[in-house]
Amino acid sequence: MAGQAIRIEKLTPHIGAEVQGLDLARPLDERTFQEVHDALIDNGVIFFRDQRLTPEAQKAFGRRFGELHTHPAAPSLLPGHPEILVIHADETSRHVAGEDWHSDVSCDPEPPMGSILYITELPPVGGDTLFASMYAAYDALSEPLKRLLLPLTAMHEGEHVYRGRYGVKDEGKVFPKAEHPVIRTHPVSGRPALFVNRVFTTRICQLARAESDALLQMLFRHVETPEFQCRFRWRERSVAFWDNRCVQHHAMWDYHPQRRHGHRVTIRGDKPFYRP
Ligand code: SIN
Repeated sequence: MAGQAIRIEKLTPHIGAEVQGLDLARPLDERTFQEVHDALIDNGVIFFRDQRLTPEAQKAFGRRFGELHTHPAAPSLLPGHPEILVIHADETSRHVAGEDWHSDVSCDPEPPMGSILYITELPPVGGDTLFASMYAAYDALSEPLKRLLLPLTAMHEGEHVYRGRYGVKDEGKVFPKAEHPVIRTHPVSGRPALFVNRVFTTRICQLARAESDALLQMLFRHVETPEFQCRFRWRERSVAFWDNRCVQHHAMWDYHPQRRHGHRVTIRGDKPFYRP
């Protein structure tokens, strides 16, 4: 099959690119797959406009990059598609997915490699998503602070995030938790990335509680530095595909009581490591 000729337009020097000329509902040939893969690795998050994705087509696109992940807490709302996380907000919502800076489900022992979000319904204005490069966050740290962080690990926990959140019975349910390096090496690019986030990371294992709290608060603020970010303004039927290993994101819930709706497919990842 003839490949699709794609163009890649960067949004900022550190993070984000729009990929043009690609219909994600069509099977990707090897060359096109490699170009999309490389665009993701080079830019951390890539965007596509004007797509038409059935749940099957969105899952098939995700499966080109790995096995699909099923969310450990959110109920499956799309019959027959447990791997699809429905992202929905309306006038009755008390939370939205991802309303603070995070890397998806980092509490998993093997956190997701990437997430593919397809938005089909938007408020008249608002509902952007912000993305931040954790390579840029690591690179901007001073050398003494890098040296302090490199041997450290941190706990990431789901309990305080997920318990009671989805309005379903969860007594007796055990939510994931895991210890991960504070700085992880990206398994493809080989670059170091900061890997703590405000939603899931609860403490740095080797430090006293007060030291851990102070250092984490400083790092969580550092993650939010505007120079590390790009901001995506959705249009209906846009797709964002982000690499959770080196990017954090924040869904901007500035549109209540309006509706926003979409489907997310999440790709399984591997155990984070640090390799000098
Ligand atoms: C998420 O997957 O964290 C939600 C992102 C969004 O709704 O923009």
